[in-house]
Amino acid sequence: MSTIESIIQRVAAGDPPGRDDLVSLLSLAGAGDRERLHRGAYAVKARNVGRTVRIRGLIEFSNICTRDCYYCGIRKSNRKVERYAMTREEILQRVAWAYTRGYTSLVLQSGERSDSGFTSFVRDIVGDIKDLAGGALGITLSAGEQSEAVYGRWFEAGAHRYLLRIETVNRGLYRDLHPADNDWGRRRGCLDALRRTGYQVGTGVMIGLPGQTIEDLADDILFFREQDVDMIGMGPYLVQADTPLGRQAGPIDRDRQLALVLNMIAVTRLVLPDINIAATTALHALDPRGREQGMTAGANVVMINITDARYRGAYQLYEGKPGVTTDADEARAVLEEGVAAIGETITWNEWGDAPRFDHRRANLPAAERG
Ligand code: 5AD
Repeated sequence: MSTIESIIQRVAAGDPPGRDDLVSLLSLAGAGDRERLHRGAYAVKARNVGRTVRIRGLIEFSNICTRDCYYCGIRKSNRKVERYAMTREEILQRVAWAYTRGYTSLVLQSGERSDSGFTSFVRDIVGDIKDLAGGALGITLSAGEQSEAVYGRWFEAGAHRYLLRIETVNRGLYRDLHPADNDWGRRRGCLDALRRTGYQVGTGVMIGLPGQTIEDLADDILFFREQDVDMIGMGPYLVQADTPLGRQAGPIDRDRQLALVLNMIAVTRLVLPDINIAATTALHALDPRGREQGMTAGANVVMINITDARYRGAYQLYEGKPGVTTDADEARAVLEEGVAAIGETITWNEWGDAPRFDHRRANLPAAERG
């Protein structure tokens, strides 16, 4: 057996992965080795979460943001962006539409705000969505760093999953990318608060950031494991020309980015077999077959953008975002074809929670299960 295969087997067997092992796997560049890695991860995926794609309907309900992250197209200082906030009626209209189409799991994402107008709006809309379908719709929120009290109110209103990427575990790099709000510890604290509140917790990173090393990416995976997360969303860093990082960064090496992202997905699947891992929109932006490649490397979740078409253009975190002009039905048809091509099926009409969450609860003493 090759060294690579023995590392894959060791990691897949649940041995605590060493940083060096992760670095070796993430660095694999030859076609044969990479295929062995992806095949190993796919087997682990098939055993633990099945050969099926879990669908989310994504609503980007506002691009107003108080943060100024150096890489992000909707950062507060980007004057070129036309700002919007969907109204309650507009959101509910999209939700009702999605529900009739078999979407039972929704993601509501926005720029970050912590004013009470915003936090109450989110609480109310979560309650409205719950009421609209008699509780049938699962709601994931992704609205940045908030106080534990706010996370609690949103949870009580009915949200049950939350996505907050750590972006990178390299504290120095994090500081460089978030000059005004550079407190990595506070961000990690938010992930802890989300877990305490009772959410299924998702995090993730950007891959191929200028200055990021393979060792950093190995540390990212060790962090996912240490935080014991339920969901991961990670994709390539992509240039956005109207941002400070986009202006500094040279052109990105797309082939290298793609290879790195797929290896990250595969190694994350080996280390955390029963979580949900997204084949992200950024991966789709990098390569038209990126999502399918992500799925064959271990990803099992895809989000379809169901935001009103007229707002899509104003929610561009990076350049080349796919689906800005495609409607949700068209996007769905394209995805169905891609999924069929890799021999998988899409599961509609379910929340599609990560088995990890149930496994963790089953291991808690009964009194703590809630
Ligand atoms: N390239 C790739 N991903 C980006 N994000 C923001 N800007 C970019 C970019 N230029 C990601 C961040 C954020 C998520 C919502 O989008 O990881 O958490």
